[in-house]
Amino acid sequence: MGHEGGRVGARTTISQNPPMSATAPVSSMATVIYIRALSTAVRQLGICVIGLGRAGTIHAEIFRSGIEQARLMCVADQNKQVAKEAGVRLRVDWSTEPEDALQREDVDAAVIAVPTNLHAQLLLTAIRTRKHAMVEKPLTASLDEGKRMAAKARSSGLVVQVGYMRRFDKHYMEAREKAASGYLGKLILYRAIAHDPGPPPGWAADPRLSGGIFYDMLSHDFDMARHLMDSEVSAVHAVGASMLYEEVRRRGDYDVVSALLTFKSGAYGYVEGTRKSTYGYDLRTEVVGSEASVVVGGMGDALLTLADKGGVRRKGLHWFTERFREAFLEEDRRFVRSILNNSASEVPALDGLRAIEIAEACKVSVREGRQVELRELR
Ligand SMILES: NC(=O)c1ccc[n+]([C@@H]2O[C@H](COP(=O)([O-])OP(=O)(O)OC[C@H]3O[C@@H](n4cnc5c(N)ncnc54)[C@H](O)[C@@H]3O)[C@@H](O)[C@H]2O)c1
Repeated sequence: MGHEGGRVGARTTISQNPPMSATAPVSSMATVIYIRALSTAVRQLGICVIGLGRAGTIHAEIFRSGIEQARLMCVADQNKQVAKEAGVRLRVDWSTEPEDALQREDVDAAVIAVPTNLHAQLLLTAIRTRKHAMVEKPLTASLDEGKRMAAKARSSGLVVQVGYMRRFDKHYMEAREKAASGYLGKLILYRAIAHDPGPPPGWAADPRLSGGIFYDMLSHDFDMARHLMDSEVSAVHAVGASMLYEEVRRRGDYDVVSALLTFKSGAYGYVEGTRKSTYGYDLRTEVVGSEASVVVGGMGDALLTLADKGGVRRKGLHWFTERFREAFLEEDRRFVRSILNNSASEVPALDGLRAIEIAEACKVSVREGRQVELRELR
């Protein structure tokens, strides 16, 4: 996928770092070096971040100072206090009107990190105003809307990247390299365990807004299944229960689920998720090949080991913000790189659609108590 090249480079910063000229005359009395000031134009993309909650704050902080070729121009959140606090803290313009931010001349690209049911409306506005967009995961909370978004994104010629940041985690990247290079042999099984430390916060507990656990939480694991196994999922058989939280049960979602996946390649997969993990964030992914296996993560991934009279204890990672800090940075870097290099999005909207197709198939499977072929949904 390409993009409209004319927008990029609306602003330039000039760095003057003059090298010694090879042709400069040298006097015997004194060395006189004629220096030619070289102006190196560094293209910087103007970025706005819309939605300043858990995910948006991470992106805003990265774009504020973490990526040389990008500059955070403004932030927007419908909550005035949140928008103002972020704008003042990050020393950029702030607004309560996302549409205004998307109209700005100095903005080339937007990060859309509002609740999932609002992604479509903002992505379509971004496309209309000719801004590249990073849309947080999942692409949206409804399959029909996802199909429309993927079609619009594809025909726009803009870079649209979906926020599956695990793809840019160094351990998952190595696992992918091992799988893709043939080192593992024939890929026969995929296994993913995802235990979140607590219930989904606020709006995300409502499946009409978040899509429910298969969209909101496990679509990461479905995306990784396709990515690591290098094969589409053709069928799923899922089960789900609400055993932990009354609110989840009342809203018709599940907090304990598992799904069997069948891949087009003939391989099988298993994904399980729970919304409770008292010992912290528990994320494990395994690809089994005919010649070798690769495992990312383990129970008790530790950032800290505490040794005292009570013995040696490893402190597990509490949440995704710690586990994927570097991956978010790399994700944002790749987004900027795709735009500046006029190259394809590394996680296009079509990949976002494929992940929510699997999520939707799981929902239907739990509801109807049967295996669901993905082609039924197309
Ligand atoms: N990549 C990841 O691992 C990851 C992690 C967390 C969240 N997310 C995704 O990011 C998105 C946001 O989730 P969150 O957890 O950050 O939510 P959040 O509730 O923490 O923050 C959402 C923010 O959006 C603002 N908002 C709501 N409606 C708005 C509108 N119309 N215009 C502007 N601002 C609006 C809210 O005021 C709030 O500040 C979701 O799609 C979620 O799935 C992804």
